[in-house]
Amino acid sequence: MSASTPLPRTGDTGEGAAPGLPLDRRGEWTALGEHRARLGPAHLRELFADDPSRAGRYTLDVGDLHVDYSKNLVTDETLGLLGALAAATGVADLRDAMLRGDHINVTEGRAVLHTALRAPRGAVIEDDGHDVVPEVHRVLERMGAFADRVRSREWRGHTGLPVRRIVNIGIGGSDLGPAMAYEALRPYTDRGLEFRFVSNVDGTDLHEALIDADPATTLFVVASKTFTTVETIANATAARGWLLDGLGEKPGGDAIAKHFVAVSTNTPAVEAFGIDTRNMFEFWDWVGGRYSYDSAIGLSLMVALGRERFQEMLAGFHLMDTHFATAPVERNLPFLLGLLGVWYGGFHDAQSHAVLPYSHHMSKFTAYLQQLDMESNGKSVQRDGRPVAWQTGPVVWGTPGTNGQHAYFQLLHQGTRFVPADLIGFANPAPDLPESLVPQHDLLMANLFAQGQALAFGRTAEEVAEEGVAAELVPHRTFEGNRPTTTILADRLSPSVLGQLVALYEHKVFVQGAVWNINSFDQWGVQLGKVLAKRVEPALSEGADVTGLDASTASLVERYRSLRGR
Ligand code: F6P
Repeated sequence: MSASTPLPRTGDTGEGAAPGLPLDRRGEWTALGEHRARLGPAHLRELFADDPSRAGRYTLDVGDLHVDYSKNLVTDETLGLLGALAAATGVADLRDAMLRGDHINVTEGRAVLHTALRAPRGAVIEDDGHDVVPEVHRVLERMGAFADRVRSREWRGHTGLPVRRIVNIGIGGSDLGPAMAYEALRPYTDRGLEFRFVSNVDGTDLHEALIDADPATTLFVVASKTFTTVETIANATAARGWLLDGLGEKPGGDAIAKHFVAVSTNTPAVEAFGIDTRNMFEFWDWVGGRYSYDSAIGLSLMVALGRERFQEMLAGFHLMDTHFATAPVERNLPFLLGLLGVWYGGFHDAQSHAVLPYSHHMSKFTAYLQQLDMESNGKSVQRDGRPVAWQTGPVVWGTPGTNGQHAYFQLLHQGTRFVPADLIGFANPAPDLPESLVPQHDLLMANLFAQGQALAFGRTAEEVAEEGVAAELVPHRTFEGNRPTTTILADRLSPSVLGQLVALYEHKVFVQGAVWNINSFDQWGVQLGKVLAKRVEPALSEGADVTGLDASTASLVERYRSLRGR
């Protein structure tokens, strides 16, 4: 990655993907199944007792991330077999194909080059023979100039007042990333500016964002790769009406130019909407929506952070990209986390994966990962269209600790489901946390460490009985343990660390998609619902025909109409 001489292309069809045998008929897969059977109920208590060096050996330090994977249900043999599976399925080849710009998104015929968004100036990364890095830096420069003007209050609205509230309108990848990163990096943002992220077509979302806003000091960032997404266009159209009404202006004046900017790949649609294309920040079809918040989709975030902090975040992404591209598989963090997920999905029947950040600023991180992971790897056909016969992406879920401990951790500890989890924490609290609240940070982190410990080692019936617990309560108070966790610990949640974390998960998802031989970069599964919603909408109005709808939906529509008095 970011080599100044591009690697030779191997073609545009994603030759990195392993041809031939289906995954579950490969010897490496069968070997893992046999290994799993041999391991049987091996308990983390025994694995740690048998190998005093385990805790030290099963850690990786990459950039600012210290990752302890010793509490996973693996041995050296497991890791060796998983590495062999990665080799057999051509993960590294597909990675290299992605990084050099091959069109590995086979169903859309596109390159997958989000890593170019954080490549340093001077790197050469080509899409169809065209170096994309200079364009990336040209747009970053324009974003920086715009952010400077808003942050310095030089950018003025229609009445001459500076901007106070920035409303990002977008959905999916055009919302989740900037909204998540804004929350995560709040201590680094300009607290004199107010940010809102509006995504839902439910009008209450926009209403709540504007209820106390002044049109004269409000700036809208309409973020949409396609600029055709129904929710975003509906909200942007309503916002335009709100602004013009509030300013007492008519369309066609310069009010829109002063209060609306767009981020998109679709210049004609931005123009048609009425936004001055000088206020448009572009990105490219080789950036997937869920991989886009480090592109111009991060414009609101850059306004919040300033260009230097945004650059620090990009440098964090790049650090992880470089590690992913160059570290040997056995010391490669995205490979490791990806393969652990393959192991649990394929050989432990894990249906879900919990991501549990012990940081209130990370409150939107797991929601962001849901799109990243589930839209990427929620697939059931292979790259060539054949069905898969193995589990693909898990359900990703979770909320920040310690809150989750008082909600669903009971199930994690004593339920019948097997849920591997990532625990993410930071040694230092947020830089602007008042002194009086700093002591609580130890309490927060003590909980993170304690949960990993309890999940792994539990408490045996003997231990419980020794505590004098009544015999009939012993089963209720016994913790089986053996629930795997990976702990990710960093110094503090800085822009760079956030970039490292996001890139880590991006590449983890990549590794899994490559092993499962699915295309992680399309999202056809979201289309059908969109098409049907367009058909159902007219039926909601009075007298509209419900024939053509299935019986259940027609009956629901009729009930809805009656409840609406139609
Ligand atoms: O949910 C489908 C999807 O296409 C996502 O992949 C994308 O992030 C989102 O819609 C928004 O798309 P756009 O940025 O084009 O408005």
